[in-house]
Amino acid sequence: MANRRFPPLLERAHVHAREYLRQLPEREVLARASREELLEALRQPLTARGEADAAVIDLLAAQAERGAGACSSPRYFGFVIGGSYPVALAADWLVSTWDQNAGIYVISPLVAVIEEVAAEWVLELFDLPRESGVGFATGCQMANFTCLAAARHAMLQSVGWDVEAEGLHGAPRLNLIASAESHVTIDVAMRYLGLGTNAIRRVPTDAQGRMRADLLHELLDTLEGPTIVCAQAGNVNTGAFDPLNEIAALTNAHGAWLHVDGAFGLWARASRRHRVLAEGIELADSWATDAHKWLNVPYDCGIAIVRHADAHRRAMTSTAAYLIQTQGAERDAVDWVPEFSRRARGVPVYATLRALGSEGVEDLVDRCCTRAWQMADILSGEVGVRILNEVVLNQVLVRFGDDDELTRAVITGVQQEGTCWLGGTTWHDLAAMRISVSNWDTSEEDVVRSAAAILRVFRALRGGAHAAQ
Ligand SMILES: Cc1ncc(COP(=O)(O)O)c(C=O)c1O
Repeated sequence: MANRRFPPLLERAHVHAREYLRQLPEREVLARASREELLEALRQPLTARGEADAAVIDLLAAQAERGAGACSSPRYFGFVIGGSYPVALAADWLVSTWDQNAGIYVISPLVAVIEEVAAEWVLELFDLPRESGVGFATGCQMANFTCLAAARHAMLQSVGWDVEAEGLHGAPRLNLIASAESHVTIDVAMRYLGLGTNAIRRVPTDAQGRMRADLLHELLDTLEGPTIVCAQAGNVNTGAFDPLNEIAALTNAHGAWLHVDGAFGLWARASRRHRVLAEGIELADSWATDAHKWLNVPYDCGIAIVRHADAHRRAMTSTAAYLIQTQGAERDAVDWVPEFSRRARGVPVYATLRALGSEGVEDLVDRCCTRAWQMADILSGEVGVRILNEVVLNQVLVRFGDDDELTRAVITGVQQEGTCWLGGTTWHDLAAMRISVSNWDTSEEDVVRSAAAILRVFRALRGGAHAAQ
C-alpha cells in the first residue's frame, strides 16, 4: 500500500525540480520574498490530521520561486558557493531515496565502498599521501574541526597525554598558531575542541593576506612544546595562498603539526595551471576542504584529510556494545567524521569525480579562474573602478570611486538589481565588493551580463553623487 504513494509524489517533485532548474539560469538571483510573506504562506497551527502530500510538495515548490536565493545560479558570485553539477544532483537524489545510515559498514556496504573509493580518488586528485585518513563531513567547518581534533590528539600524545580519555583538565598546554586572516571556522573549531580562541597566536599577513613566514619563524623560535599551526590555501577574500613550502619547512623543523584550511584552494591542486600556488601543501599533516564549493556537489559536503590515519581515527572513532563495527578492511565512517548517524554525502563526490575525471575537474577549476580574470578585466577597464587583489584564483575584490560609501552602495544596488548576486567585505580597512566564481555553469556571457549590471549601477550612483554635489 505504502509503495503506491511514492511514484505520483516523486513525479510531482520531479516536475517542480525541472521547472526550478529550467528557470534557474534566467531568474533573478535575489530572493524576493520577505520573511513576513514567507511566514504568511508557510505558518499555520500544526494540524491534527495533516494535509495531502501533493499539496505540501506544491506549497514548498511555490514558495521556492520567490523565497529561495538562487545561489546555484551561474550568476551567483556571493561568498564561495558552487552550484550543483547535474550528475551530482542526480546522485544526491539517489542518496535520499536509498536513505542509508552511512555511519557503519554493516548498515550500508554500498556507501562504505563508494566512500572508500571516493576517498582514494580525492587523495589522487590532490596528490596527497595515499595512506591518509579521509572523512566526508558536513562542510569545511567540520573538516577543520576533524583535522584539528586529530592534531590535538597527536600533539598531546607526543607529550604523554591521552586527551580522548583525560580531556583537557590538567593537560599540557598546546601552542596554537594561525594566520591573522585565517577563516573564522578555525576559531570555531578551536572553541569546539576546548582550546579557546584567546590562546591562538596570530601571525601577521602580507598585502595579499598571506601568512608572513618570516614572522612565523620568529614566533616559533620563542615557543617550546606541542604546537599546531594553521595555514591557509585560498584566502577567503583574495584567494591568496600562504607560502606553504616555507611554512612546512618551519613546522617540520619545530616538530609542529601543520594544518591547511583549503576550503576552495585545495582544488588548485587539480589544475596544472594553478597547482604552483599550493606548492608544499603535500608536506602538511592535515587538510580540510569542501566538495560543496568547487566540486559543485549539492550541500552539504566537506572533506577532512589527515596524513596520520591513526591519529584521525583515534580522535573520531566511537564504539558501543550494540554497534557492529568491522575489524577488517571495511570502512566505518564513524572512524573518520564527528557524526554518528550520517547522510551518504560521499556518494555525490564519487559520482562527480567519476563523471568528470581528473581533467574534467581541472577544466572546472581553470574555467572559473578564467571567468574571474574576465570579470576583473572588464571592471578594471572602467574609470573609477579598482581591483584590490592580485587575481590568482577565483576571487576578485573590487572598489568603486575609492570610496567606502559608494562601494557599499554599489554592492546593495547590484543585489537589488537582480542580474547577479555578490557580497561585500572590508579588506585591509577598505570596503570592497567580493566576487567569487565557483559555479560550473558560469559562462563568458554570464560574466559579461553581470559586469554590465555592476557598471550600470556604479555609473548611476556615481552620476547621482555628482549631481548631488
Ligand atoms: C577558507 C574557508 N574555510 C572554511 C570555510 C567554511 O566552510 P563551510 O561553510 O563549508 O563549513 C570557508 C567557507 O566559506 C572558507 O572559505
